[in-house]
Amino acid sequence: MGDHMAPVRAPAGTHDVLWPESARWERLVAEFAQRAQRAGFGLVLNPMFEDAALFRRGIGDESDVVRKEMYEFADRGGREVALRPEGTASVVRAFVQHHPPVPWKAWYVTPAFRYERPQAGRYKQHHQLGVEALGTDDPDLDVEVVTLAADLFGWLGLTQVDLALNSMGCGECRTVYVEALVAYLDAHASELCDEHRERYRANPLRVLDCKRPPCRAVTEDAPRITDYLDEECAAHLARVRVGLEELGVAYRLDPRLVRGLDYYTRTTFEFAATALTSAQNAIGGGGRYDGLAEAIGGPRSPGIGFGIGIERLLLACDAEGVFALDPPRPDAFVVDVTGGAAAALCAELRRAGLGAVRAYDGRSLKSQLKQADRSGARHALIVGPEELARGIVTARPLRHEGPQEAVPRASVVDWLAARQATETKEDQ
Ligand code: HAM
Repeated sequence: MGDHMAPVRAPAGTHDVLWPESARWERLVAEFAQRAQRAGFGLVLNPMFEDAALFRRGIGDESDVVRKEMYEFADRGGREVALRPEGTASVVRAFVQHHPPVPWKAWYVTPAFRYERPQAGRYKQHHQLGVEALGTDDPDLDVEVVTLAADLFGWLGLTQVDLALNSMGCGECRTVYVEALVAYLDAHASELCDEHRERYRANPLRVLDCKRPPCRAVTEDAPRITDYLDEECAAHLARVRVGLEELGVAYRLDPRLVRGLDYYTRTTFEFAATALTSAQNAIGGGGRYDGLAEAIGGPRSPGIGFGIGIERLLLACDAEGVFALDPPRPDAFVVDVTGGAAAALCAELRRAGLGAVRAYDGRSLKSQLKQADRSGARHALIVGPEELARGIVTARPLRHEGPQEAVPRASVVDWLAARQATETKEDQ
């Protein structure tokens, strides 16, 4: 081996989220968790890998996700497993396996793995915030789920978000629709893109989702699913629309919206961030999957949910200049030039619920003060030989004008706690 071994890098299409950027992830996940909990969703944790058959049956053999993008392999025991390409199939699998009482409402935050060619906003490992609700096909639930995502985007400050809504119908009306679509595509097969000219019969709905100009042109005048909905599906869609309108959630009906996963029935929706110039501007999407539990061997249990791509959502925030980075700052930086005071003072402050950081390796006063400034702490608590002799700590404000104070060592924790409380109030 040579002296200059190339350092190992993260695989293309994956990324590390380092501090302080990760502070945005923390805030986002915490806010989502709170919103989901307020709406009756509880956290669910699933394995990162599953029996590959789960995704084949659940998402569909003919979907791009299963056909081209799944990380699938035989483990050392020869079992066919796959890394989760999304969250829904696992959550529904867990529902079928544990049969909790319904309605069952779960939220999650999870990595998802898709073997895609990396580009802006598209990764081999991305992360999703999501919810799934099982056990009812009440359209009120559809409205609730869509609104949960829309309100999160509103809280972040995003204004350039386009919500597309459609209904995929149920097994019955969709069959009639697909026949009409195939007849139409048969008549236009030669005009389709290379991939779909060959494959449109295997999964005709995919053609509606194809972004290539030839397919876009053909599907412009294709039969529309919304014209084929049976009475119940049409009524369901109508109630979802009224519900969204009543709550002031703006949407656009898009009969060509089919989404990339085959489990969808009835309500489907997608949020696009129009401030993003890249093709990958879908920041979240979801819909109903009333046949999914049955497709993976469980009882019939209607359900609905969504997944939001965290990376893309943050890119959308950057594009609109909202949800800026605001990393948490320590309350105090303990500057210790006696070589023995920092450990105890930091521990006391932390035990009292205050954020305290310090320097190491016996740095000079000047160097420690520089670090204190960079740390963003509100106060430097300085202990030198003189402070030690007098039994005090010198408290110096770092983020605002003001005199430094000599605070008795015995009461410095209380002093800082009181200071933080009044200053935080003043900030608000
Ligand atoms: P999906 O549309 O495939 O739906 O993914 C959800 C979101 O994850 C997308 O809108 C996008 O923001 C993000 N995303 C997907 N693939 C990538 C990628 N390669 N790189 C970066 N971000 C990506 C689902 O996964 C469904 N499970 C959603 C759902 C839940 N439907 C019902 N319940």
